[in-house]
Amino acid sequence: MTLAHLLHLQGIESVVLESHTREYIENRVRAGVLEQGTAELLRESGVGERMDREGLQHNGIELRFGGAGHRIDFKELTGESITIYAQQEVIKDLIAARLGYGAPICFEAEALRVADVHAQPRIFYRQRGVEHVVACDFIAGCDGFHGICRPAIPADRLQIQERQYPFAWLGILARVPPASDELIYTYHERGFALMSMRSPEVSRLYLQCAPEEDIQNWPDDRIWEELRTRMATREGFALNDGPIFQKSITPMRGFAAEPMQYERLFLLGDAAHIVPPTGAKGLNLAIADVRVMTRGLVDIYKNGKRDGLANYTERCLKRVWKVQRFSAWMTAMLHRFENEGAFSHNIHLAELDYVTTSRAASTALAENYVGLPFDTPGLF
Ligand code: DHB
Repeated sequence: MTLAHLLHLQGIESVVLESHTREYIENRVRAGVLEQGTAELLRESGVGERMDREGLQHNGIELRFGGAGHRIDFKELTGESITIYAQQEVIKDLIAARLGYGAPICFEAEALRVADVHAQPRIFYRQRGVEHVVACDFIAGCDGFHGICRPAIPADRLQIQERQYPFAWLGILARVPPASDELIYTYHERGFALMSMRSPEVSRLYLQCAPEEDIQNWPDDRIWEELRTRMATREGFALNDGPIFQKSITPMRGFAAEPMQYERLFLLGDAAHIVPPTGAKGLNLAIADVRVMTRGLVDIYKNGKRDGLANYTERCLKRVWKVQRFSAWMTAMLHRFENEGAFSHNIHLAELDYVTTSRAASTALAENYVGLPFDTPGLF
């Protein structure tokens, strides 16, 4: 949706095929943390008005361990901040903008296969039982990890790199005011816990759990109890509970496909890469791909550069691997791995102590969290 929106602003036509209903994607619970650059892109492209009104600007986060909290002050260390604004809200704003200027979105359009990506790409899709086809110059595969675009690249051209984590996140949404003004990332001997939020009335919380964990084993009381145990401080941190209205388990993995382009087919976001969620990078990394693809298409259609997208993979992957590194580092620092004894526990605590007391180390965390700079500033 962001790519289609940016292209529209540049006078480049596109068709969006969305497999779900509008209602579904406007309500689906996903990410909630926007890097400063992501928020700026939405604002500069004219879809940031509600985000600026309803989003929560955060100037730091807390790292909690050993029964005490330690703040990382993003604003002071980097001059930048993050915005808490749910992905489904971004989606609502983009849909409203697109319908407002009368550009096409096909809802409930299930992409079946792509063809002729070397010359005149076509996408076959089914909408309400009827098969259709779109012919186009380029295909932007923004169809997620399970989409049809990545598998359309010949297997012998594609390298897949993967890392499985031996744990998952149990996530909840609860109707209770957040227990703190800023996000709290907690390392505890029993595992990771995260307090985040969606609004002044809604908290989003996560707990590290086993990957095969059955959500049935986690009645609400047990979730609150475990969160309280992990997030407890010597000062007596109080975590109020409230009605839980959404509960899910998210497996954790790192994944990267290379190249991200095959002929006239491009992969963006989760279609090409998955990062573990610690650090909230997935959405932001997808938007970074969108920037690269938009610039390339603008070079082709407006600046007459036929090879405008020639370096797409290289340009995207530079950031992808930096973000993989950051997400893997945050994950390793804050989670309990299998068979970790006292030695490993002390390494976790020492690393957290270092990160929260060394200005150099705090700055390294902060500049990654608010979003690394782009090699070319500005929108287009
Ligand atoms: C959220 C998710 C994350 O993975 C994270 O690191 C921070 C916040 C969230 O959903 O609010």
